[in-house]
Amino acid sequence: MSIDEHQRMMRADQANWDARTPVHVASRFYGLDQDLDPERWFGGFEWDDLGELAGRDVLHLQCHLGTETLAFARRGARAVGLDFSEVSVAAARDIAARAGLDATYVRANVYDAVEALGGRRFDVVHTGKGALCYLPDLARWADVVAGLLRPGGRLYVVEFHPLFNALGPEPAPGEGPELLLRHDYLAGDGAVHRDATYTYTDGTAVEGATDSYEWMHGIGEVVNALVGAGLTIRRLAESDELPWQRWPQMVRTPSGWWRLPEPRVPLLYGLLASR
Ligand SMILES: C[S@@+](CC[C@H](N)C(=O)[O-])C[C@H]1O[C@@H](n2cnc3c(N)ncnc32)[C@H](O)[C@@H]1O
Repeated sequence: MSIDEHQRMMRADQANWDARTPVHVASRFYGLDQDLDPERWFGGFEWDDLGELAGRDVLHLQCHLGTETLAFARRGARAVGLDFSEVSVAAARDIAARAGLDATYVRANVYDAVEALGGRRFDVVHTGKGALCYLPDLARWADVVAGLLRPGGRLYVVEFHPLFNALGPEPAPGEGPELLLRHDYLAGDGAVHRDATYTYTDGTAVEGATDSYEWMHGIGEVVNALVGAGLTIRRLAESDELPWQRWPQMVRTPSGWWRLPEPRVPLLYGLLASR
């Protein structure tokens, strides 16, 4: 697929994220009218891997409403969020101001991040939970990340596990509680096109741009892209818990997150790499 075709699809995604954002801001899922608790989006294993953030320059790529960016600011980092959705960045600035937290937000495509951030380098680059699937080319993404990190700086990716993405309920709703392998685990060729009136949160229909494109990336593809950009893989964690109840059969765990009944399968992974 040509770079022009990727640009066209990313423009469609950008319009789709602009259109989704008002629904997300008003949703119970993000809960912005309740207690803003940025920590609830993070598992203990993530903080263990991320280490001390106070006084560090932390960049959150594809930050959306900045709900996770603010967790870094609360831990004393100089936090910067970057996202290509103008509506998301405006909402993120407003949410940070209302929370009295200091975070800087930049509107740019991830692929233009080095230029958009004026060559600034970071101690930590963080991204995930629904981010990589919007990127058509992981080799280019990994080169960008390497260009954003100081020598010794760390990348932390926390993403939905490809096995989680492959699961889905039975085609006829109500026939049974089982989840089946319904989608490809390994990436196929090209993008998955969606035209969805409703987004992943609760709330009203999305008005306007409902088309979006996603790219499936297996863990091998992520690892190989990072190695290809000269980064060193430090740790890979697999978690059977998610921060929200994706399917009705999920049960609450002592951590407050959710997992599927047995057999235990990974739903999320955390990957630490360094430059
Ligand atoms: C599901 S959110 C991920 C953030 C966070 N984990 C969350 O759930 O709120 C995906 C974000 O990626 C952004 N995005 C998608 N493709 C992008 C790109 N090429 N450059 C910058 N941002 C992008 C979207 O605008 C959206 O805000």
